[in-house]
Amino acid sequence: MTTPTPISLTRTQQPAAKPDDASLSFGKVLTDHMFVMNYTEGKGWHDPRVVPYAPLSMDPATSVLHYGQAVFDGLKAFRGADGKIRLFRAQRHAERLNKSCRALCIPEMDVELVRRSFEAIVEADHDWVPHAKGTSLYIRPTVIATDVMLGVHPAHSYTYFVICSPVGAYYKEGVKPVRILATDNHVRAVQGGLGEAKTAANYAASLSAQQEAEKLGYTQVLWLDGVERKWIDEVGTMNIMMQIGDEVITPPLAGTILDGVTRNSILQLLRDWGVKVSERKVSIDEVMQAGRDGTLKEMWGTGTAAVVSPVGELGYKGEKIAIGNGQTGALTQKLYDAIVGIQYGTAPDAHGWTSEVKVPVAA
Ligand code: COI
Repeated sequence: MTTPTPISLTRTQQPAAKPDDASLSFGKVLTDHMFVMNYTEGKGWHDPRVVPYAPLSMDPATSVLHYGQAVFDGLKAFRGADGKIRLFRAQRHAERLNKSCRALCIPEMDVELVRRSFEAIVEADHDWVPHAKGTSLYIRPTVIATDVMLGVHPAHSYTYFVICSPVGAYYKEGVKPVRILATDNHVRAVQGGLGEAKTAANYAASLSAQQEAEKLGYTQVLWLDGVERKWIDEVGTMNIMMQIGDEVITPPLAGTILDGVTRNSILQLLRDWGVKVSERKVSIDEVMQAGRDGTLKEMWGTGTAAVVSPVGELGYKGEKIAIGNGQTGALTQKLYDAIVGIQYGTAPDAHGWTSEVKVPVAA
């Protein structure tokens, strides 16, 4: 048996004051520590460590700043009703980060070490995991290319870091319907591109469409495929699902969309419950028609940040379709409650999705 790579710990001498749980929004407050590990050619990934949170010092010619060779992921730690701290699907997030690395020509890491990096940072910052209902500690693992050079090719050196932010419920009211706009002016990703990787470029590609949608009073963009501009891909930064008649439909993982961890969890729950689920292509015309004839019952986005985000209105080519009278649907609410119950340890975790982070016992 090989001994696991040790992760060193240097504690901050200047712990920051923690915010009130009631004041938490998304990603604005960062914790006291960060996990860091470096890659150099010939040496591989080395020096995994938890250190005081600090700015990264970078040469202006560092390659990530110019060509975006960067990947990230996002997962959460929850303080349960029983006081235990649990990570949700840490292993799957670690595997997905490596998959994103492959897509961006970044050397893969040891998945087990990545999973332990999540535990190590939460252990160091365990008193930053907020207590109030609906709050959590958002964990942001990121890998960046650090070569100092202006040539366009995969770098020879990288930094992996993990930072954390105590976050509030995505919506203060819990689950709240949003208005979304399907666009055929902009595309987020194409087959053969980077759509299935969690990489900065996909988010940069989304900004101008998002801004346009907001100007028209919508919260998110419903992305259509890049070729025919007809097939539904994703919504905002989330996967999309809808119930038409008795069928729950979500676009297949066919190269342009992210393999969402919440998407996967929800599909599993629906199958557990005996709901008819199809991972199939679904066109905007099919959805608009279902909206007109009343068979479009519910629609929701899925993601780590919001868990599920109900869609109350869909706009496309000047037409507006109200979904479920603009209210959160029963299935959407049931899915939200089921996932949140598992995350906070108030519902049985039948699939072993959570893992407890053991924290030091106070002396
Ligand atoms: C999520 O829904 O979890 C996301 O990916 C959003 C994140 C980029 C803030």
